[in-house]
Amino acid sequence: MIIKKTPISVSKYLNSETKKLKKKIAFIPTMGALHDGHLSLVKKAKKKGYFTIVSIYVNPSQFAPNEDFSKYPRSLKSDLKKLRMISADLVFTPLHKHMFEYESPKYTFKTFGIEKKLCGKSRPYHFLGVSDIVLKFLSIIKPNVAYFGEKDYQQFFFIKTVVEQTQLKTKIVMAKTVRDINGLALSSRNNYLNKEQARVAKNIYKSLKILKKIIKNGEDVSKALNQQKNFLLNEGFTKIEYLEIRTQDLKKSILPHHRSRIFIAAKIENIRLIDNLLI
Ligand code: PAJ
Repeated sequence: MIIKKTPISVSKYLNSETKKLKKKIAFIPTMGALHDGHLSLVKKAKKKGYFTIVSIYVNPSQFAPNEDFSKYPRSLKSDLKKLRMISADLVFTPLHKHMFEYESPKYTFKTFGIEKKLCGKSRPYHFLGVSDIVLKFLSIIKPNVAYFGEKDYQQFFFIKTVVEQTQLKTKIVMAKTVRDINGLALSSRNNYLNKEQARVAKNIYKSLKILKKIIKNGEDVSKALNQQKNFLLNEGFTKIEYLEIRTQDLKKSILPHHRSRIFIAAKIENIRLIDNLLI
């Protein structure tokens, strides 16, 4: 497994080597603290026969000043071990200095109001921070495909929409959410949960599944959404930031909610968890 630390060294390597390899390039951006959700994206790319590149970089610009940037879990050594085990081809681990100084071409795009809905409402600069760094990575690596997890569907959809508005040729692909045996979507932030909080957290998936059933049965949806909010608060969540049904392109969903998604962000103290489920 090759490890590169600077944008220049990655581009140089890719320019000289990948043409010889005659393989397409897949890219999986991550912030490390890798779990089976991240690894599933890498395995998916490997299975397709791609030269698979993973970045590990905790991007400061997608965290607001009051968020968990400084305490975000960092575990580079064990991350590299996990990636070696599944034969990732190249890992890119830049320093902030490198990414900050790297000037990518200026891309212009419309945000379709992502900063005003769902996660964007409480994190108005988050998605712009994400697109800024992802566009930098894409312009350095120029992959044929890039994988994003369904767990962060809003991020996947935003990046896909942004990339389609640029000259970049990368295909943005979504990979299924990986969950633990209780249905809790794997997340690096699950590391913050103590035992009792982990018990509380698994109710998110329970609620999503109940709602999906209710919606499919054509029952009263707004009543059900309120019931589930109350259920989660009773179970120990301290705040339900949103519990909403949206279309696949994140517009307000109208009945019968066919092919829509249920989106949730909920907090246990200051631990914020998100999930979503296709109806
Ligand atoms: P991070 O949270 O580390 O996630 C990296 C990728 O793994 C994302 O595409 C995310 O959706 C996916 N992922 C996380 N948990 C998953 C799960 N349980 N099942 C399937 N996929 C999962 O998302 C980011 O980092 C950053 O915003 C990034 C795109 C790297 C930009 O900084």
